[in-house]
Amino acid sequence: MPAQRTRWTLVATLSLLASTSCAQTIVVDGKTVSADYDTVAPAVDSISSNARLLPGFENLQLTDNVLANLTNLQLSNISLFHFDDNKNLDSTPKCKSLPGDLLYPGKIEWKVFDLLTGGALIKTVPLGAACYDGEHYDAAVCDYLLANWSITETHVNDPSSLMSPLFAGATCQPQNGALGEECTLGGFPEYSVNVTTVAQIQLAVNFARSRNIRLVVRNTGHDFLGRNTGKGALSLWTHHLNDIEVMDEYESADGSYKGPAFKMGAGVLVHEMYEVAEKHGYTGVGGECRTVGVTGGYTPGGGHSPVSSLYGMAADQVLSVDIVTPDGRFITADDTQNTDLFWAIRGGGAATWGVVTSMTVRVHEKIAVAGMAWDTTTTDMGIDDETFWKAIEAYWSRYPEYAEYPTYGYCRMSGLPDGGYAWRGKPFMIPGMTLRDFKKLVQPLLDEWEALGVDPKLEFFEYDNLYSAWKKHFPTVPVGGTTARTANRLLPRKNWEDAELLNKTIKTVRSIVEDGAFLVHYNINGPKPEGVSDNAVNPAWRDTMMFNIIGVMWDANATEEEIAAANKKLTGDLSQRLKDISPGAGAYNNEGDLMDPEWQESFYGQNYDRLLEIKKKIDPRDLFWAPTAVGSEGWAIVNQENDPFISQDGRLCRVSA
Ligand SMILES: Cc1cc2nc3c(=O)[nH]c(=O)nc-3n(C[C@H](O)[C@H](O)[C@H](O)COP(=O)(O)OP(=O)(O)OC[C@H]3O[C@@H](n4cnc5c(N)ncnc54)[C@H](O)[C@@H]3O)c2cc1C
Ligand SMILES: *[C@@H]1O[C@H](CO)[C@@H](O)[C@H](O)[C@H]1NC(C)=O
Ligand SMILES: *[C@@H]1O[C@H](CO)[C@@H](O)[C@H](O)[C@H]1NC(C)=O
Ligand SMILES: *[C@@H]1O[C@H](CO)[C@@H](O)[C@H](O)[C@H]1NC(C)=O
Ligand SMILES: *[C@@H]1O[C@H](CO)[C@@H](O)[C@H](O)[C@H]1NC(C)=O
Ligand SMILES: *[C@@H]1O[C@H](CO)[C@@H](O)[C@H](O)[C@H]1NC(C)=O
Ligand SMILES: *[C@@H]1O[C@H](CO)[C@@H](O)[C@H](O)[C@H]1NC(C)=O
Repeated sequence: MPAQRTRWTLVATLSLLASTSCAQTIVVDGKTVSADYDTVAPAVDSISSNARLLPGFENLQLTDNVLANLTNLQLSNISLFHFDDNKNLDSTPKCKSLPGDLLYPGKIEWKVFDLLTGGALIKTVPLGAACYDGEHYDAAVCDYLLANWSITETHVNDPSSLMSPLFAGATCQPQNGALGEECTLGGFPEYSVNVTTVAQIQLAVNFARSRNIRLVVRNTGHDFLGRNTGKGALSLWTHHLNDIEVMDEYESADGSYKGPAFKMGAGVLVHEMYEVAEKHGYTGVGGECRTVGVTGGYTPGGGHSPVSSLYGMAADQVLSVDIVTPDGRFITADDTQNTDLFWAIRGGGAATWGVVTSMTVRVHEKIAVAGMAWDTTTTDMGIDDETFWKAIEAYWSRYPEYAEYPTYGYCRMSGLPDGGYAWRGKPFMIPGMTLRDFKKLVQPLLDEWEALGVDPKLEFFEYDNLYSAWKKHFPTVPVGGTTARTANRLLPRKNWEDAELLNKTIKTVRSIVEDGAFLVHYNINGPKPEGVSDNAVNPAWRDTMMFNIIGVMWDANATEEEIAAANKKLTGDLSQRLKDISPGAGAYNNEGDLMDPEWQESFYGQNYDRLLEIKKKIDPRDLFWAPTAVGSEGWAIVNQENDPFISQDGRLCRVSA
């Protein structure tokens, strides 16, 4: 019998009875009371003094008064839920606890936590469990999953599902017929909290810290680096925090911005923001995928957008951040208070500084767009590879000319199984330009293509708003696979300023595609907008001419050695080729290579040292940890170097110095 649990039960004079009805009861000092929302939970204080909080969510907080009341009730060792005083920092254990460990919370503690959160705790059942023998088997659900696994929406609405399942160890993938295999939790969290109040976040942060369990935050599940999951973890699921408050006349704390702004809960999706913006006559800075979370991982990581070349990065739009910090307190960071944190969280990455509950961001007036889209292959066009590369070179070498305008050229390229290439422009567009001017701009390129005999069957478009172009001409990207990994590089303007270097640049990118990688390439820039205070956006973004995401794939039946070799090729060879032609440039953390040995420099550039200093101040116990997050070098997943999936299916321990 785990000693800790026994002691806890005795001392706290608490026991929990499963009654015959569904109502729970708690015995407090010998008296049986029904443990429900009235007697125990939710443990919240309703704060009415601050009008800037999102009602019904941010005003419901854990306060010292609440904790004092709970102590009086003797419901549990309530100090588990206390705020951190940041004392005894040296006593933080070397490893996080895992289920089965003596000190991992037992059933009763989880039950008390569940009651305090108002019944928001969810025991993880991987989404794919419906396709495995056992209590969760469900043929109809399994059919649905098999048909729809690659669609982002399938995962967004689940508390723990990952769009990059490699990081849970590729366990519980929906399977066809092969019901012999087991569905295990792997790198999925043990429990999630279905968050609807700030108080629940604070309780979870305090509980995870007191009990030394891993804490993760999961919003939509899009993450490409496994930063949203962890074995044995308590996970905060922020999906339902989807309020959007539209403010036509917002004034920032220091008065430097006056204009329209949205205050968005942490669960707001890109398409939700775009739809509200469309309705109210604004343009929001968001990503291209419908279901990426705006204030979750996207904005703290920088956030590139179809309008970035015009308005800057998503992080540049942020005017104020509400956040639960690692000590459990709920604070606001802006240009007048908690300014270090405000600097860091605008570009310095998600899952590092606390749990964001909402962000207030600037939005812009509606803007017209014009552009062209295409979707073709060398076979469709009846051209050979050499002609294809000439057509590509004609386009890529014109990037600086297009970058004179706020351009957004977004293309995907990959080899075909029987030779040749597929190429999609989805789309190349310029906000604020008419179709007439756009056609004039691209005419020399089209002439050159025509002379080469290259006809991608262009589809031109023009709209008086971004939303319509985005709805019609942007692709959906398949997710949920376990046979690919990606890396990226932000190639600077400099590479276009010298003819020889440009030659080399084009040849290098071409060689990567010729060696079997797929390439997502953008003609995009992330200039710092005027009037925006300094922030932690990777400086490489400010100078980018071409943003390249490269990916390697392996067969579904590849051996561990083959997968490890593919990973090594991506990081050590293909990625390195891009680094070699752009020394001192960087990479985008949100779509970065988890194995990049120089990730600090690549993802954060010269900001890293200051970010690390701020991290040590805000989170001295490293409660928030995620791979490649600032400060994460102090910890590692045990044995991860032998895991071809580089998953989160292992114990997190300090790296001994
Ligand atoms: C199909 C697809 C399309 C994409 N398109 C774009 C694009 O156009 N532009 C672009 O810039 N990026 C794009 N991305 C990358 C995207 O920005 C990252 O995957 C990002 O991490 C997603 O954030 P999320 O909150 O949606 O996802 P999640 O996986 O839920 O979370 C991502 C990270 O953020 C942390 N996090 C989430 N919420 C919070 C919170 N409230 N507080 C603290 N930490 C939090 C998580 O712990 C995790 O580390 C795309 C990704 C995919 C899969
Ligand atoms: C504390 O308990 C008292 C008595 O039950 C109640 O009136 C008060 O609202 C509680 N305060 C908080 C912050 O929960
Ligand atoms: C309650 O927990 C705290 C911290 O975990 C511990 O220091 C304290 O001794 C416990 N109190 C009791 C009465 O068990
Ligand atoms: C896949 O999802 C779509 C849209 O939700 C649904 O119409 C379809 O029935 C699903 N497929 C299966 C096999 O369930
Ligand atoms: C999570 O909470 C929301 C809002 O209360 C609710 O609608 C939803 O059903 C809950 N989901 C789960 C899986 O508990
Ligand atoms: C660039 O490459 C082309 C052939 O691809 C060659 O004709 C040209 O001379 C090269 N220019 C420079 C400056 O290297
Ligand atoms: C692996 O799968 C591929 C198809 O993806 C198939 O052609 C090949 O024969 C398989 N190899 C083995 C060893 O099963």
